[in-house]
Amino acid sequence: MSKVSIATLIADEKVGFKTTVKGWVRTFRSNRFVAMNDGSTIKNLQCVIDFEKYSEAEIKRISTGACLSLTGEIVESQGRGQSLEMVVSELEILGDSNPDEFPIQPKKHSLEFLRENAHLRFRTNTFSAVFRIRHAVSFAIHQYFNDNGFFNIHSPIITGSDAEGAGEMFRVTALDAKKPPLTEDGAVNYKEDFFGKETNLTVSGQLEAELAAMALSKVYTFGPTFRAENSNTSRHLAEFWMIEPEVAFNDLFDNMDLAEDFLKYVINYVLENGADDLEFLENRILDEEKNMKADLRQPFALREKLKMVADQDFERVSYTDAFNILRNSKPNKKKKFDYLLDEWGADLQSEHERYLVEKHFGKPVILYDYPAKIKAFYMRMNDDGKTVAAMDILFPGIGEIVGGSQREERLENLQQKMKEFNIPEEEMWWYLDTRKFGTCKHAGFGLGFERLVLFITGMTNVRDVIPFPRTPKNAEF
Ligand code: 4AD
Ligand code: MG
Repeated sequence: MSKVSIATLIADEKVGFKTTVKGWVRTFRSNRFVAMNDGSTIKNLQCVIDFEKYSEAEIKRISTGACLSLTGEIVESQGRGQSLEMVVSELEILGDSNPDEFPIQPKKHSLEFLRENAHLRFRTNTFSAVFRIRHAVSFAIHQYFNDNGFFNIHSPIITGSDAEGAGEMFRVTALDAKKPPLTEDGAVNYKEDFFGKETNLTVSGQLEAELAAMALSKVYTFGPTFRAENSNTSRHLAEFWMIEPEVAFNDLFDNMDLAEDFLKYVINYVLENGADDLEFLENRILDEEKNMKADLRQPFALREKLKMVADQDFERVSYTDAFNILRNSKPNKKKKFDYLLDEWGADLQSEHERYLVEKHFGKPVILYDYPAKIKAFYMRMNDDGKTVAAMDILFPGIGEIVGGSQREERLENLQQKMKEFNIPEEEMWWYLDTRKFGTCKHAGFGLGFERLVLFITGMTNVRDVIPFPRTPKNAEF
């Protein structure tokens, strides 16, 4: 007997043939109607059982969470809410699920509860929708770059360098933690470690992407990155995925054009290819907001918000202009910000970024030309000698979603910068080599994958858009 996915059955709308579906019971009512879901779509297939054919003990085993194989005729549905259904002629229970123990009941569970049951939360409508969308976003990203002549580069996960210079790295070592070999002056002797030097999990694939761009012109990485920053927020993960395109001959403004076009493409792709799941997630939010005060509700429904971002030009503002807007803003003057802005050069906090995006401009914002002091060593110094050719893209409800820059391609300027940032040249000889041999203008950026999925799904915590989140004091599953 042929086995088809529920998605295919529903999309084809064909009736009058026999087939098999395999999946999990979402609900079972009146000892007759099984709502089957196989994960291929948010939609369930209603399967009708002739309960007189089965013993009470067998009927009892058809409970929420159980795994079944059902064979039967696909017919036009008599009931409302679906166009077709299966009249079951063969029922096989593949895996029982004790209803007294199965945590995912057909009722509303809190997201916190489901996070603690992340191994089972795929079985809910919300999380199956989120993870199908996550897949669509990932697919669209590869599609975009492939269509635009980029090559995917796999940058290393174990590295000896700290690309962002923030010192927030997880050490990788094979030394005995209790009795590591020591040097004469009592420090751990990493020369005896697996790689013969100190290594860590990468915080970014950018530096390696730059090396590749100096030959392949247009490249991107899409890999896991790791940051040991102790940020217990709804936007930070210790392990997250980053997309980092790097393009030879691009300047900062080409970089902005690329980022904006890319983000819009991905959002449009999901609007077109994830419509059922987006609709479900949109209704989920509207439902959540029913009991909220009007001013706490989202101003736009999910798909409307996505369309607006895909249709509008992003606002481009220099750090200096944005700083002046913020310094003169009401919340700054009335001391409503946690961090008050006074002197040019201060780093912007997420409250400032969100004010610009949500209150002042009401659309995505690209901030550029940041003070050199608050940005990484590799960014290109501008002619003013104070700012670098950096850009951050800020999204409503999220804050920073992209960080990028034009790179310092001039050897002497880079060496000078590394000195100021205390980065030993011996450690980065390979990076400096690109500036010695055929250097050229180039630029790139990093997109936080989970932040984009967060924006597109309308979820509110990054922990709910990655299957198994890694955060401070949490590495379960
Ligand atoms: O701004 P970041 O630190 O930039 C870089 O790493 C550059 N090397 C990128 C480049 O130019 N190639 O990080 C880029 C993005 C941020 O804008 C944010 O969206 C995301 O990565 N990000 C995180 N996402 C989740 N959890 C964290 N702890 C994150 N830290 C950064
Ligand atoms: Mg950043």
